[in-house]
Amino acid sequence: MTSKALTVPAVALGTWAWGDSGEAGDGYFGSQLSESGLREVVEKALSNGFTLWDTAVVYGMGRAETVLAQALTGHDRSEYQLSTKFTPQIAGDGDDPVADMLEQSLDRMGTDYVDLYWIHNPADVKRWTPRLIPLLKSGKIKHVGVSNHNMEEIALADRILGEAGFRVEAVQNHYSLLYRSSEHAGILDHCREHDVRFFSYMVLEQGALTGRYSPANPLPEGSSRAAVYNGILPQLQALTDRMSAIGEDRGASAADVATAWAIAKGTIPIIGVTKAGYIDGLVTARGIALAEEEIAELEALADAADVDTRGFWEHEM
Ligand SMILES: NC(=O)c1ccc[n+]([C@@H]2O[C@H](COP(=O)([O-])OP(=O)(O)OC[C@H]3O[C@@H](n4cnc5c(N)ncnc54)[C@H](OP(=O)(O)O)[C@@H]3O)[C@@H](O)[C@H]2O)c1
Repeated sequence: MTSKALTVPAVALGTWAWGDSGEAGDGYFGSQLSESGLREVVEKALSNGFTLWDTAVVYGMGRAETVLAQALTGHDRSEYQLSTKFTPQIAGDGDDPVADMLEQSLDRMGTDYVDLYWIHNPADVKRWTPRLIPLLKSGKIKHVGVSNHNMEEIALADRILGEAGFRVEAVQNHYSLLYRSSEHAGILDHCREHDVRFFSYMVLEQGALTGRYSPANPLPEGSSRAAVYNGILPQLQALTDRMSAIGEDRGASAADVATAWAIAKGTIPIIGVTKAGYIDGLVTARGIALAEEEIAELEALADAADVDTRGFWEHEM
């Protein structure tokens, strides 16, 4: 009953850090982002075929959605796809909090539909999943996915949607060299076998896996990401050095190699882009085919780093 199959580019673009732009930002990333800089990101991304934008109300409490829409101004709605989320923890107390939250996102983004709508986390799968059905029927959302759900929760959401002729078409979980819980839990295999798109988020561990940050040049002081990652940067050095070396011959950075790894694992990485120059890296990453031995070597170095980067919002898979 879903209208058209979900087609997606090799890499999707994430906008959590965009919530930091302007005084309403939440300072999670400690990034200095300007509207003109983000406009450049959008222009370069679209002209290189990166057309799918992932956002959420909670990224700067509406700020990321608003700033994204501003940056996309002037482009026809058919040139890009929007992916945003219902976050159970901030549900209102109206009759239909899912429809209400979607309506507010549509207002902020100046559109009348979302291409891919997510339940942000499995706080209450039975309660919230059925609320997607009328939104799919009305065409306000074209496709749905679930985020931070484990296998059982994915299956439950799929059963609920299945009763109305719809299905979970996508899963969005934390998946990086350092955090492979969805792979170990069989979720990647499940998605591959059932034609479900697996979107991997935090592939770059919010900057810690880019090679740009190191003990000598840590993540921005005072930001939440610095609090999470600065203490483990010494343990990541061997891995990021090897990623840089692997990238060197291919004109790629460590970040591009991390992205290429996520593509090689059959996932669609959602990369948090904050600078137009990062789009060049995604073009490079899209064209890299890592050898099996390189993948195995990187995963062994990642395991040897022995760090746990599970987000505070995530539960065990
Ligand atoms: N569903 C969920 O619960 C959930 C949770 C987390 C994230 N997400 C989604 O996934 C997206 C990605 O995650 P994320 O943004 O948290 O982190 P990420 O993609 O792991 O890292 C993003 C950071 O890496 C740096 N970076 C990006 N491209 C780079 C490049 N080519 N070279 C060097 N550095 C680069 C930037 O830092 P600087 O600006 O400091 O250079 C950027 O802020 C989010 O934006 C969001 O859309 C979803």
